[in-house]
Amino acid sequence: MPHKLVIAVDGPAASGKGTVARALAAHYGLAYLDTGLLYRAVGARAADAADPLCALAAANALETEWLDDPAIRSEDAARAASIVSAMREVRAVLLDRQRAFADQPGGAVLDGRDIGTVVAPGASAKLFVTASMEARAHRRANELGRDYIEVLADLGERDRRDAERAVAPLVRALDADLLDTTDLPIAVAVRRAIALVEARIRRTR
Ligand code: CDP
Repeated sequence: MPHKLVIAVDGPAASGKGTVARALAAHYGLAYLDTGLLYRAVGARAADAADPLCALAAANALETEWLDDPAIRSEDAARAASIVSAMREVRAVLLDRQRAFADQPGGAVLDGRDIGTVVAPGASAKLFVTASMEARAHRRANELGRDYIEVLADLGERDRRDAERAVAPLVRALDADLLDTTDLPIAVAVRRAIALVEARIRRTR
């Protein structure tokens, strides 16, 4: 029986990690989880995202249907997500869910900030997807129809919070392959991602 495939995809906001992760899941026929949606749902549903007790209550009450709410795709929800995601207790509750997803028999692709470092440190392949701050802000501004300068400031603040927090900060795992998508069209980024995963699987087989 072939070894179960678990692929960890991490990186900052608007780096292309979600697109790459979804494409990898389709390519290998694996289940896919965008873990950012969990933090967004908790941030958006907490009565006060800055209050750890409210955030923890929302994390404990989290239901899968919350992930389908379009409101959690907003930048307000992203900001709330980055606040609740710095709370150790919230992360602990969400960690169990993510590990259960990663452990499913058919294998899985998960994307987020700490998949390769905390959620699935034993993943078969790990990618750290990145892009310049300017490229990421342009993408997000286009997606949301928002002002580039405002988006640039929001992303900078969120990157800083994600990278500087004490618990599970955004950091490249030592064994993650780097994929810089700054100048890459989506199709090329996806081809490279598949090539990196293939090379990694061959090396560790
Ligand atoms: O799509 P985008 O990169 O803008 O954000 P996201 O992946 O939906 O994540 C939203 C926020 O959730 C991030 O800024 C992080 O603060 C947090 N997050 C996290 O801490 N750990 C994860 N595994 C995923 C997201």
